[in-house]
Amino acid sequence: MKSPKPKSRPTRLPRWQEWSVYATLGALIVTGLLWLGLDEFVRIEGEFGPEHHPGQALSLMLHGIAGYAFLVIGGAMIPVHIKLGWHLRRNRRSGLILSLTCLFLALSAVALYYAGAEGFRSMASLAHWLVGILLVPALLFHVIRGLRGA
Ligand code: HEM
Ligand code: HEM
Repeated sequence: MKSPKPKSRPTRLPRWQEWSVYATLGALIVTGLLWLGLDEFVRIEGEFGPEHHPGQALSLMLHGIAGYAFLVIGGAMIPVHIKLGWHLRRNRRSGLILSLTCLFLALSAVALYYAGAEGFRSMASLAHWLVGILLVPALLFHVIRGLRGA
């Protein structure tokens, strides 16, 4: 039988939730970077000249799926992890930065789905992936601070 969580760390995520966060964010970063790399550097010879590699559309589809999964996992963290950490004033600043980063990514993703104007869309794209890359240090910072505070 698994040992119960220590009472002094009620903010600690259950294992499955911690690993789901790493898995979904990892998938988002890998598929996002793959899309960027293919978009920037790779073209294949098509019937009517150079065209995008088919892996680019596939990576974006997987990225979208990982995005939905992450939002479910992230949402499930609100009632306990985030609420409790906030009230106990533990790891608040880095948690807030991380939450705002995720919120920005989710909102800019909506803009990517629905923005019509080309200028606005490319601005949303640039902001989305730049902030996406910043998610890695934001999460590392939060986890390390959490471990230190434990
Ligand atoms: C204001 C919002 C947040 C607060 C106050 C907060 C608070 C905390 C605290 C106190 C810890 C240390 C847990 C312990 O050792 O007892 C922690 C760790 C952690 N947090 Fe947060 N957090 C917030 C938002 C987030 C968000 C949005 C994510 C994911 C995207 C996240 C993911 C993690 C992970 C993966 C850990 C390390 C695993 C663990 O210690 O359970 N947190 N957080
Ligand atoms: C909360 C986390 C995230 C969510 C919910 C999310 C969601 C999305 C969605 C829905 C799209 C549009 C998919 C489509 O057009 O079919 C997208 C595009 C993209 N995302 Fe994310 N994403 C997240 C994090 C990230 C991260 C961490 C990166 C890291 C590099 C990233 C990079 C990209 C790129 C490069 C695109 C393509 C931009 C374009 O079409 O111009 N995203 N994302």
